[in-house]
Amino acid sequence: MSEQKIITVTSPLLPDLDGFHDLLKEIWNSKWITNNGAFHKRLESALCEYLKVPFISLFTNGTLPLLTALQALHITGEVITTPYSFVATTHSIWWNNCTPVFVDIDPATGNLDPERIEAAITPKTRAIMPVHVYGRPCDSARIQAIADKYGLKVVYDAAHAFGVEVNGESILNAGDLTTLSFHATKVFNTIEGGAMVMHDAETKKQIDYLKNFGFAGEVEVVGPGINSKMDEVRSAYGLLNLEQVDAAIEARHQVARRYREALKDVPGIRFFEDIPGVRHNYSYFPVFVDAEQFGMTRDDLYFKLKEQNILGRRYFFPLISSFSPYRELPSAAPENLPEANKLSDSVICLPMHHALTDEDTEKVVNVILKHCVSAR
Ligand SMILES: Cc1ncc(COP(=O)(O)O)c(C=O)c1O
Repeated sequence: MSEQKIITVTSPLLPDLDGFHDLLKEIWNSKWITNNGAFHKRLESALCEYLKVPFISLFTNGTLPLLTALQALHITGEVITTPYSFVATTHSIWWNNCTPVFVDIDPATGNLDPERIEAAITPKTRAIMPVHVYGRPCDSARIQAIADKYGLKVVYDAAHAFGVEVNGESILNAGDLTTLSFHATKVFNTIEGGAMVMHDAETKKQIDYLKNFGFAGEVEVVGPGINSKMDEVRSAYGLLNLEQVDAAIEARHQVARRYREALKDVPGIRFFEDIPGVRHNYSYFPVFVDAEQFGMTRDDLYFKLKEQNILGRRYFFPLISSFSPYRELPSAAPENLPEANKLSDSVICLPMHHALTDEDTEKVVNVILKHCVSAR
């Protein structure tokens, strides 16, 4: 009997191995393997152009730029954030000795609900840390208006939002600082990696110091920086991946189209539509299961998919606010976060990546259709 193919939730975008080998030869010849080498510089300038941002600083992952962003802005006290994210978002607040204050989300977008932010502001609030969840743009104009009114900083976690634009403008330029993740699971990856986007050269200089232990030159340390530099090997890998990321996004777009077409009339299955004027990156394809209408709970469907070797992901579940380091916080109470709890209890991210075939998506869809109440 032939082994059944496993359909994974994601699959890394890999550069051509021969092309990568050529660049490795260059690195070997130069003997410069990290610390702001030629490929690091080339990737930073290529990303500025591709992402339409003025300045970028590469990092070794997507968590450390979050930590460094709050540090660079001297944030103390309370930081308003979303519980509907990956745990690194809140951890970065904790690592800065600040208190995360969870605010509920808008179920229509999955993002921090601007309507609810003001009620959570106290005299100790210093910053807002929203997340462009699944790469869907936050309402940055409204968030900025609130931040300006109360004198707060805004740091966006754009780990999912590589290349996302609204009316031709990058969403990475919103707020004071924005961070990205280039983890293997992301639309654009450098295996592990990340970046921070900033508005001016002086801020880039400070951030570049902070990601290199705080060194400003050979003999001066300007702050308690961390080591979070991206090396030459991963920078070269990133340069090659950048050449194929548009094609990968288009392939993801086609997967999203196929899912939407096949699932549009399934009772109890909700998904997000594209937003006019937005260049989406199709980083995830979350569906939200209404157990009553669908006739099966989210978890049961998740395990039915798994039985067929289809690995979805309950992303984000559990909510960050329910993890032990945070659950005692007053803002973590489920009554404070009804929408985030509902979304978290109903979500499955279906397999979504550039290499999914028509046959793969059909198989995923067929399992869902088979278990829907109207099919029984
Ligand atoms: C929303 C969000 N923030 C931060 C991170 C952390 O990024 P990294 O894994 O590159 O450290 C992730 C990674 O999955 C994420 O999804």
